[in-house]
Amino acid sequence: MRSISSFAILITTATGLAAGPVFTIDATRSTGKVSPKLYGLMTEEINHSYDGGLYAELIRNRAFLDDAKSPVNWSVVKDDASAATIALDPANPLNDKLPTSLRLAVTQATKNHPAGVANSGFWGIPVHPKTEYHASLWARAEASFSGSLTVSIMSDDGRTVYASAIISGLTAGWKKFEVTLKTGNVTPTAQARFAIMLDQPGTVRLGLVSLFPPTWKDRPNGLRKDIMQMLVNLNPQFLRFPGGNYLEGNRISERFPWTKTLGPIEDRPGHPSNWGYRSSDGMGLLEFLEWCEDMKAEPVLAVYAGYSLEGDYIKAGLELEPFAQDALDEIEYVTGDTNTTWGARRAEDGHPAPFNLTYVEIGNEDGFDKSKSYAGRFAQFHDAIKAKHPQLKLISSDPWVQVEGHKPDMVDMHDYSAADEFIKKSSNYGADMNRQGPEIFVGEWAAHEDASARPWEAASWKLPPTPTMKAAIGDGVFMAAMERNADIIKMHCYAPLLVNVNPGARQWRPNLIGYDALSAYGSPSYYAIQMFSRNVGDEILPVTFSGTSVQSCATRDSHTGEIIVKLVNPEMTPQSLPIEIMGVPTLKSKATVITLSASPEDTNSIRRPRNVVPVTTTLSGVKPGFIFTMPPYSVVVLKLETR
Ligand code: AHR
Repeated sequence: MRSISSFAILITTATGLAAGPVFTIDATRSTGKVSPKLYGLMTEEINHSYDGGLYAELIRNRAFLDDAKSPVNWSVVKDDASAATIALDPANPLNDKLPTSLRLAVTQATKNHPAGVANSGFWGIPVHPKTEYHASLWARAEASFSGSLTVSIMSDDGRTVYASAIISGLTAGWKKFEVTLKTGNVTPTAQARFAIMLDQPGTVRLGLVSLFPPTWKDRPNGLRKDIMQMLVNLNPQFLRFPGGNYLEGNRISERFPWTKTLGPIEDRPGHPSNWGYRSSDGMGLLEFLEWCEDMKAEPVLAVYAGYSLEGDYIKAGLELEPFAQDALDEIEYVTGDTNTTWGARRAEDGHPAPFNLTYVEIGNEDGFDKSKSYAGRFAQFHDAIKAKHPQLKLISSDPWVQVEGHKPDMVDMHDYSAADEFIKKSSNYGADMNRQGPEIFVGEWAAHEDASARPWEAASWKLPPTPTMKAAIGDGVFMAAMERNADIIKMHCYAPLLVNVNPGARQWRPNLIGYDALSAYGSPSYYAIQMFSRNVGDEILPVTFSGTSVQSCATRDSHTGEIIVKLVNPEMTPQSLPIEIMGVPTLKSKATVITLSASPEDTNSIRRPRNVVPVTTTLSGVKPGFIFTMPPYSVVVLKLETR
């Protein structure tokens, strides 16, 4: 895009507008096609994105593996007249995948004074009215115990039982029990826990314990409905997973272990993640793929490429071969026919149909690999994957990697900048991009309010978990810049996507969507992205502007002829913009205007989820030359109908 420098003389434009600042959209030509996959999502296990977030499991430390020494997040429930103890029992594991269990020894209990164990979930068990929860647990009893277990969702103080069910028939061997817990017309609360109680003395062992509320599309082992609805509302065309740093792990042994994330949840040991807590791996490879399917988004699969965060790496060559093979197996799991080994495994896991896959990313942020081993590793993965799947487009996670004969199809360029920095650099963004070079994927980006706050450091976590309107302005100008360059920038996605807002849950800020156990909300940035991603044309129209700090982009929907103009006003004053559309004889006089406007420090939160949201209005008197006044500090989408 070319910015015309500001000049003070009033001019009369072709459409008769006498104007100082001029904003022109040239609809006589297009500078390129907008990629249909421009807007998508990036995700990883960070900030309790899955465990305690999108993944609807309510029991924290369900397999008792979060800590090797004690059953963290589990506690004894008893009163003055009952007694019990709990301990990890690795000598009596549930199976060879989950190498421990919980021993619950109730030494004193009666009907009126039961004793047992409780789990308070991820910052509370959410109790919703008239809701059915699916509880399952593995249990076995010592011979001396022939009683039953009462499982319930109860208040933290134990005074209110919201739902309960009895489990009987425990034996000396492991057995799986499943019950439905149904709440009545209760007031929603998260001051609740899940309890397993005995009303007589006895010793039982518990294997994997699980509790699910209703899930998106009722999928077993599924996703939280409110967060999914918010994601679907972003109209994402792809999902980049499983990371991010989460793909790499701190050490090679802690990379995303996709093979161990398959099958029944009692076969998934989970793994330590780089973000400081253990992942249950309930969100396994198939769940990621079904998540894509449910959003009608395509997977952008990142495969582990032999480099981990603390600097361990595998040199290209023989040693790296098993890792390249692992990536091929993973691709086969995603795309293979059921007569292939991994395609058959996918069918066994419940999804015979292969998934569509176009893009595979080799590693994550391998530009940080100080050993400079990525060129060799990229080449080896490139050759292995292209030999078997020539149609796949391979993304280099180091945008600057150069390997003779192994040009990446696409490069992933991350950009976390302060809002002011985005405002400064966005007006001329893309001018130096090599149109002959690989396509560009901005696989992680976000405007931060303050350049000096390091997002991964505890100091920044004192700030609210999700961004303010100031950041949304930075996001807006950057998205406009990317859309103007959508001929070469084929995909982009904000990061991180999700954050559990409870103290201690987060490792990064800002994040797009916040939630606690009961509800979720979108930040102003969420709404800015939604306004952009739900209003995309397919032809890029050149825009020029002068005498204004408003930044913009314009596209046309070639099917309907609609011209979509996106404008971002970073000023604290309204901006009157003479808008001229060249090459369009008439416009319908009424246009749709979607506006997000607030003070820089305004934001949304659990308590005020809709403090800053877009407002849709109708504008009259629209013609190929008209004056549009933007509110202060605003992101605006103008939808102009030409037919
Ligand atoms: O988005 C948070 C982290 O930022 C990602 O895990 C990593 O890829 C980047 O450095």
